[in-house]
Amino acid sequence: MHSLEKEAHRLDAEDPARRHLFHVPPAEGGRYPEVAYLAGNSLGLQPRATRDELLADLAAWSRLGVEGHLEAERPWLPYHELLTGPAARLVGARTAETVVMNSLTVNLHLLMVSFYRPAGERTRIVIEDSAFPSDSYAVRSQARFHGLDPDAAVVRLTPRPGEDTLRTEDVTAFLAAEGHTVALLLLGGVNYLTGELMDIPAITAAGRAAGAVVGWDLAHAAGNVPLALHDWDVDFAAWCSYKYLNSGPGALAGVFVHERHLGDPSRPRFEGWWSTEATTRFEMTPVSRPPATVEAWQISNPPIFAMGPVRTSLELFDSVGMPALRERSLRLTGWLERLLDEVTADRPLTVVTPRDPARRGCQLSVRIGTGSANELTKRLRHEHGVIADAREPDIVRFAPVPLYSTYHDCWRVADALAATVSEVRP
Ligand SMILES: Cc1ncc(COP(=O)(O)O)c(C=O)c1O
Repeated sequence: MHSLEKEAHRLDAEDPARRHLFHVPPAEGGRYPEVAYLAGNSLGLQPRATRDELLADLAAWSRLGVEGHLEAERPWLPYHELLTGPAARLVGARTAETVVMNSLTVNLHLLMVSFYRPAGERTRIVIEDSAFPSDSYAVRSQARFHGLDPDAAVVRLTPRPGEDTLRTEDVTAFLAAEGHTVALLLLGGVNYLTGELMDIPAITAAGRAAGAVVGWDLAHAAGNVPLALHDWDVDFAAWCSYKYLNSGPGALAGVFVHERHLGDPSRPRFEGWWSTEATTRFEMTPVSRPPATVEAWQISNPPIFAMGPVRTSLELFDSVGMPALRERSLRLTGWLERLLDEVTADRPLTVVTPRDPARRGCQLSVRIGTGSANELTKRLRHEHGVIADAREPDIVRFAPVPLYSTYHDCWRVADALAATVSEVRP
């Protein structure tokens, strides 16, 4: 492993990260001053620009009070519009199809109010068995809300016996056979546990051909892989901004609704004063006039100080562009995979993420054969300054994030695993 450290430094010189744009936490253990941060799939690092931008918004409040709604340098009334363009470009959407608001699970519920409309024999919601629990709870509660038994209404797709990830052909075969009973297909674009990138266009096409509505939870996909939601004909999608989008814990989330659903008065929605068109909002009429954009799904006036960090981060993504990030991501994750191959060969560790780079983002998930995932991540952190993330009982996730992770960070992961997990001798 030691001979590869030099190689890591060479690769970093050749293909540098934009690490200087971020605060990298100091290490508590190990030989290096900064942590090797591989947990951007859970919470991204803080961009250095965020604090100043946030302070500027705070200063407007102290200087202007209520007049800041119109007179702040970035007026608060239309503030959310500053986020729309970059968010739309990030996910391959039109600006009318994208808005930043609320949190992810809240948005999934608001979207299901509109798009989960069980009727006749078409009542089921399909998720993956390894869906993030919040999604599982959300769809089960939606089924109950419609008076249905969640155990019957929610279908959980499982991988084939002995496999860890779903095969596209199995998802599409299920839809061909049983799609007539499916009201909503709601999958994770990149699975939170295994790191599998689903074939979003193929599955969306199959779901829609079966007459189902197709929505995507893009929590682990937004800012991780290139997306083309409009062209892929996705019905709706939602994502959070605190993982790859580096907008801070609990940051405001994003929503996409395909153009074909916009301005449709027959589609139910929950409304508030931010659902009505901006030009007449302050006429204070009792009946709303929703715009023919996804902004009709907004309800409350947005929290400006929570929007600042998302805006700052989206502007960074906009300036770098997803194609360039994806290129570096493929190189970086390929390097981590190569190193993990060396370490896992004679240790009770298995990479469960697909080996095909087209079927994953930057995250590689490792299953540990002995001991607890929590214990291992604690040792990686305290003994080696490597921050990874455990999903009990047996998965440790490593995400080299192309904006700020280095080849040397990946080397530190492999070196720390080699030192922490004992070899199994034949
Ligand atoms: C795939 C996925 N969906 C939903 C959530 C829940 O997000 P929130 O708490 O922002 O609603 C998470 C959180 O990590 C997630 O990873």
